[in-house]
Amino acid sequence: MNAVIDAIRSRRTVKKMDADLAPSRSDIESVIEAATWAPNHHLTEPWRFVVIEKEARRKLGEALAEAMAKGSKDVVPPERLAKEREKPLSAPVIIALIGSPKQGENISAQEEMVAAGAALQNMLLAAHSFGLATSVRTGLHSYSEGIRRFFEMQGDERLIAMVYIGYVTGMTAPGKRTPFRDKVVWRES
Ligand SMILES: Cc1cc2nc3c(=O)[nH]c(=O)nc-3n(C[C@H](O)[C@H](O)[C@H](O)COP(=O)(O)O)c2cc1C
Repeated sequence: MNAVIDAIRSRRTVKKMDADLAPSRSDIESVIEAATWAPNHHLTEPWRFVVIEKEARRKLGEALAEAMAKGSKDVVPPERLAKEREKPLSAPVIIALIGSPKQGENISAQEEMVAAGAALQNMLLAAHSFGLATSVRTGLHSYSEGIRRFFEMQGDERLIAMVYIGYVTGMTAPGKRTPFRDKVVWRES
């Protein structure tokens, strides 16, 4: 197997990270730089990044819990809110990838989001290549007004994902996929 295929196959979502052991700034920057090499039509580069670390993780947790409370039609039990508030503290660093679509005659909103998705995968693979663990986090309340405000999102900007990043502790579940041939048709005529 070649190195790229091996990286694609062996990358896994990792939820148990050492919350106190932060990756180096240079590794974080390399992960972000890898994102920016994703293909993007018309070179619109429809992305920006917010790196959340240290105390800022607590503020993100507050914003997530508040969004959850406001977004629910029923009263959310305090333990559920506390769990949400704690989530960002489970990783030393969180990189928010924000899709920042450009406008223009030939620019398609869909293509802008697809490009941002490609940037996300570049981040995960780059992190994996440095021995870093990642977990992609979203959830319905991540798309709320409160979280938009937290990340100072404007206009058509969309949160693509929050990438929790750090060093693995404990076991990671093995990957699982439908055999690819079940998803393919070949046409010759
Ligand atoms: C756009 C996007 C959003 C995701 N959001 C979440 C999430 O909110 N919580 C979560 O546990 N996993 C989330 N994931 C990760 C998937 O659950 C994970 O990739 C899937 O279980 C497959 O596992 P693997 O990454 O180890 O192959 C998200 C993945 C993507 C691409």
